[in-house]
Amino acid sequence: MEVQACAKLNLTLDVLGKRPDGYHDLRMIMQSIDLSDRLTLEENGGAGLRVRTNLHFLPNNEKNLAAQAALRYWEARGLPSRGLNITIDKHIPVCAGMAGGSSDAAAVLRALNAVEREPLSPVRLAEVGERVGSDVPYCVLGGTALAEGRGEILTPLPPLPQCWVALCKPEFSISTPALFARIDSVRLRCRPDTQGALAALEAGDLAGVARRMYNVFEDALPDHRRTRVNDVKNLLIQSGALGASMSGTGPTVFGLFDSEECARQARERLLDLGGEVFLARTV
Ligand code: C5P
Repeated sequence: MEVQACAKLNLTLDVLGKRPDGYHDLRMIMQSIDLSDRLTLEENGGAGLRVRTNLHFLPNNEKNLAAQAALRYWEARGLPSRGLNITIDKHIPVCAGMAGGSSDAAAVLRALNAVEREPLSPVRLAEVGERVGSDVPYCVLGGTALAEGRGEILTPLPPLPQCWVALCKPEFSISTPALFARIDSVRLRCRPDTQGALAALEAGDLAGVARRMYNVFEDALPDHRRTRVNDVKNLLIQSGALGASMSGTGPTVFGLFDSEECARQARERLLDLGGEVFLARTV
């Protein structure tokens, strides 16, 4: 079976506080885009669980979130593990704030459930995903959604009006646990207007959503990283983006465009800045 795993963007990301379990309470508006990985799942006649990807540094065993998803799925169904080859053709940048690994895991959950004729409801499947990672429940659902709590409390939202997205993943990576640890010690100077963004979504007002986008992790970045992120944001805005923000714990920065031509021009200009550059559409 072949399945697609879409990347996600955070239109807003707010950290509300640290929880006793070590995680943080979040409030974020999530959006899927058509930048995606392709997964192929094949039964291998009982030869174990194997993962193969086009990126040599990713784990090819049970440490891979895609494999963990398969194990959690069988566990939830009370079934023994099976022989399965999972081949992942990665296009979503790794450690980029776009939930690439979580999206692969969600795609495995959806695929295994589809093969078995959907014995688990989407809500149950998202609960199984929660055990694999905080972003997996959203990735099971996809589209436009509000994610709260650890990320697992999901409210589907009116879809963001279709638009173009220009993205740049600067040439460095950021450790998610390290940035979560840093955010506990910085004073946040700016918070996203989540309520305003929700009202703009309700009204189908793309520009209203875009101008309210903000991610509190931008404030927690070390200075030289923040400068690089701001350079990309500025270039996107100068190229006609309706708004620009960092996604997740970064470092990917994206801009939303209502004009394909402006988005394409932004992409060309981003290429001069370096890093991995993409053009995508919202899903
Ligand atoms: O759940 P997941 O494994 O994706 O989370 C990775 C790390 O991100 C956690 O170990 C934790 O440090 C941090 N995190 C957090 N609060 C969340 C989600 C993730 O502190 N809501």
